[in-house]
Amino acid sequence: MPPAISIKNLTKFYRNRFKALDNLQLDVAQGQFFGFLGPNGAGKTTTISVMTGLANYQQGEVQIFGKDVRRDYRQTRAMIGLVPQEFNFDPFLSAEQILIYEAGYFGVDRSEGKKRAEHWLKFFDLWEKRKHDYKRLSGGMKRRLLIARALMHDPAILILDEPTAGVDLELRYHLWSFLKELNSKGKTIFLTTHYIEEAEKLCTHIGVVHQGRVVAQDAIGAVIHRLHGDFVELALKTPVYEFPHQVGEVAVTILDGGKRLSFEEKPGMVNRVLQLLHGKGIEIEKVDVRRPKLEDAFLSLTAKSSGGGA
Ligand SMILES: Nc1ncnc2c1ncn2[C@@H]1O[C@H](COP(=O)(O)OP(=O)(O)O)[C@@H](O)[C@H]1O
Ligand SMILES: [Mg+2]
Repeated sequence: MPPAISIKNLTKFYRNRFKALDNLQLDVAQGQFFGFLGPNGAGKTTTISVMTGLANYQQGEVQIFGKDVRRDYRQTRAMIGLVPQEFNFDPFLSAEQILIYEAGYFGVDRSEGKKRAEHWLKFFDLWEKRKHDYKRLSGGMKRRLLIARALMHDPAILILDEPTAGVDLELRYHLWSFLKELNSKGKTIFLTTHYIEEAEKLCTHIGVVHQGRVVAQDAIGAVIHRLHGDFVELALKTPVYEFPHQVGEVAVTILDGGKRLSFEEKPGMVNRVLQLLHGKGIEIEKVDVRRPKLEDAFLSLTAKSSGGGA
C-alpha cells in the first residue's frame, strides 16, 4: 500500500517570487495521526493547499495513496476531507443542508447523504440544531460542523488546518476526543498546530516544518528521544536581554522575556553558559534539570537554521 501522503522535493514560490516551500519532504502512512508542527509562516497552510489542489507548485512530486495531485486531481481530492482554518459556509443554509449538499458535491446520492448527515450530526452533538441556519450556530458548533462537512464523502484522510486555534479549552478537549475516536476507527489524520501540547496528546507521528522545510519527521517518541540528554533550565535573578541562540552546537532557548534559559545538557555546556552570564553580571536564581519534552525538540530544531550562534 503506498503511503497516504507522500511529498518529495516540493518547492513553491508565490507570485511575488517568495519561496514558501523549499524542497519539502513528507511521508504519512495510512492510519497515522500526524501532527504538522511549525511556527506561524512556516508553510503549513501552503503545504495543505498543494495537497488539496488549491495551490500550484513549481517543483516536486505530491501523491495521495500513490496518485498524483495534479494528474489525478479528482481522485486525490475525493480521498481528502479538508477542514480549513476559516469558516467558509453559506450563511443561509441549515446545518443539515450544508452537510447534504457537500455529499452531493462529491457525488454521494441524496438518500445516502441524508443518512450520513444524521450520523455526523449525532456524532458531533449537532442533531438538535440540524434545522438551524448556519449563522445561528455558536462558534463551537460551527467548528464541529466544519469537521462533519469534511467527513461527508467518507475520505480516507482528514486534514485539519489549526482546528483548535482560538478555540476555548472545553471545546478543544471535545475536539481532541472526537479526533482520537475517528483515528482509532482507522481514519488517517493530518493536523497542523503550533500547540506542542496538542501534538503530544494526539499524534502518533510528527513533522516539524520551519521556513518551508521539514526539519524533523518521526514517531513522536523518537523526536523527543533524539534529544539524548536532559535539559537544564536556569532561572535568572535579573533578565538577560541579549544572549546567543546557540552556544557551540547546542541551541539555547530564552524564555519568559529573558528570565529563564533552557538548553540540552552536553559536556561543558553549563560552564559555558554560566561564564557568558557571569560576563554580563547576571546571577542564577535556580537550576533545574529535567527530561526533554516535545517543546524542547521543537525549539532546538527550529532554532538551528535561524542562525545567531556564539
Ligand atoms: N498568497 C500568498 N502570497 C504571498 N505569500 C504568501 C501567500 N500565502 C502565504 N504566503 C507566505 O508564505 C509563507 C508560508 O505561509 P503559510 O503556509 O500560510 O504558513 P503557516 O500556515 O505555517 O502559518 C509565509 O511567509 C506567508 O507570508
Ligand atoms: Mg496556516
